[in-house]
Amino acid sequence: MEGKISTSGTAPEDRRSFLGVLLSLGSICMGALLSVPLLRFTLFHLLRRTTELKASSLGPLTDFSSLSEPVARTIQVEQVDGWRKMISEQTIYVTRNTRGELQALSSICPHLGCTVPWVSGKKEFICPCHGAIYSPEGSRISGPSLRGMDRLETSTQDGQLMVRFQYFRQLVADQEVMG
Ligand code: FES
Repeated sequence: MEGKISTSGTAPEDRRSFLGVLLSLGSICMGALLSVPLLRFTLFHLLRRTTELKASSLGPLTDFSSLSEPVARTIQVEQVDGWRKMISEQTIYVTRNTRGELQALSSICPHLGCTVPWVSGKKEFICPCHGAIYSPEGSRISGPSLRGMDRLETSTQDGQLMVRFQYFRQLVADQEVMG
């Protein structure tokens, strides 16, 4: 039996299936567009930059009144990364700047991130990894680091010296906060 011949040269079944595909594609595109806000809402915590803004206590201010060289303090840093909450310990040095004011220095080397110890016998911070040397105030003396040790924001609260810990970009000359 012979089938019908369409005047446009295309069988009706072909046209119907073409329209069906077109409609399906349209529905998929529309669904994708409508799901963008929902996805953004759902993934907000994952895509958000990791930030730590809470201040931690370094101890009573009176502990540092007769400070003659840097002292190390360990703080717990709470970091929120998406839905994950991580607690890490960081060593902070309390020292005096060139004006004699208390300041807090991150112990993370601005070169490649090793922990920098205070070498009391030499009165310098000396990085064990590649030999960067910093003054008691944290200024760069020599070595591969492009800047001095990173200074952290401090404040006082109820007689306590508080510090706001942050990570800074390595291998750059200026102190740039990382998320
Ligand atoms: S990590 Fe400190 S000098 Fe390289």
